[in-house]
Amino acid sequence: MKKDHGDDSSTQHLMGREEDESEVAVSTRTKLQKTRPDTYAEWDTEDTILAVKAALEERHVVTMIEANEEVFQKLLQVQPEIVFNIAEGLRGASREAQVPAMLEMLGIPYTGSDPVTLGICLDKSRAKEILAYHNIPTPAFHVIFSLDQLTTCTVPFPAMVKPLHEGSSKGVLDSSIVRTPDELRTQVGRVLDDYDEPALVEKFLGGREFTVALLGNGRSLRVLPIIELLLDRLPPGANPIYSYEAKWVWDQSDHPIEMYECPARIEPALERQIRDTCIRAFEVLRCRDWCRIDVRLDEVGIPNIMELNPLPGILPNPDDHSAFPMAARTAGFSYNAMLNTVLDEAIQRYGLG
Ligand SMILES: Nc1ncnc2c1ncn2[C@@H]1O[C@H](COP(=O)(O)OP(=O)(O)O)[C@@H](O)[C@H]1O
Ligand SMILES: [Mg+2]
Repeated sequence: MKKDHGDDSSTQHLMGREEDESEVAVSTRTKLQKTRPDTYAEWDTEDTILAVKAALEERHVVTMIEANEEVFQKLLQVQPEIVFNIAEGLRGASREAQVPAMLEMLGIPYTGSDPVTLGICLDKSRAKEILAYHNIPTPAFHVIFSLDQLTTCTVPFPAMVKPLHEGSSKGVLDSSIVRTPDELRTQVGRVLDDYDEPALVEKFLGGREFTVALLGNGRSLRVLPIIELLLDRLPPGANPIYSYEAKWVWDQSDHPIEMYECPARIEPALERQIRDTCIRAFEVLRCRDWCRIDVRLDEVGIPNIMELNPLPGILPNPDDHSAFPMAARTAGFSYNAMLNTVLDEAIQRYGLG
């Protein structure tokens, strides 16, 4: 068994560092009210938290702080010089923004995007509105808050139905592609009931899928080697999507599905187009230090942005097929170097270097 997300030992946390002195990290076991098999899919495992700590300890003294309800007091008490933020947050559409908002209030520097960007990117429709404003391609979409609004949905079939503000393929099932009004109703109903949040209905794009890791800021922003998700490696009969089943159920270390190809085999013109689109998306969403962006080609081969992940997954074990570390590895970064580069980018951004 790999990827032991979903088990109750999953934690979420953040880590700070006091240069050559002390540091912080946070984790929590607080349970959400409604527990489903995928409740903790976004949270980092103990292994990941310890791997992040070990990486930062190469150069700094690290203190771990759990991102639970006591985090504010703990931050006041520890007074870290900077925080390495990996807190997914406890609940709600603004959950990823909560700890960074506290850090801003306390004037403590931290890695990664600010609360505004984290909140916007978690609500996929808000991120897509900004992309659309800037003419960055993203699939046509409609947000449905209740089943009686289904008639207002003009997205053509086939369509994808996803929870509005989840990640880690939570709520994206093999059955999330819908081809008829009945299927649309069933899937929207499932999202509304199971997640108690609106459903995002999106035009389904059937082209090649890529995920793109970006590292840095401004002129030092690097696009790491592009990963292609080889959807034809999914089990026979599976729909061509990176569903919850594909990510967490079918792909196991004892019988892995080798779906990631890095670097992707793409012609230079397409590579340039994907890179440019992702850099523009990173910039217009005002991401900082790092982000992983999911891209899919539309019917005429144009890269569309599906979503931005400004708090990317970072499983340390290469067998776990974690995209950001894989792209970094292909670019020549060890896991530890990758994380220390994120920290260095933040230190530089704050002028603390
Ligand atoms: N509009 C779409 N067209 C085609 N495939 C999609 C679309 N939206 C999502 N998918 C598929 O579902 C997967 C998960 O969707 P995504 O929006 O990235 O959610 P998550 O936050 O769970 O990663 C994608 O990697 C892709 O394979
Ligand atoms: Mg995704």
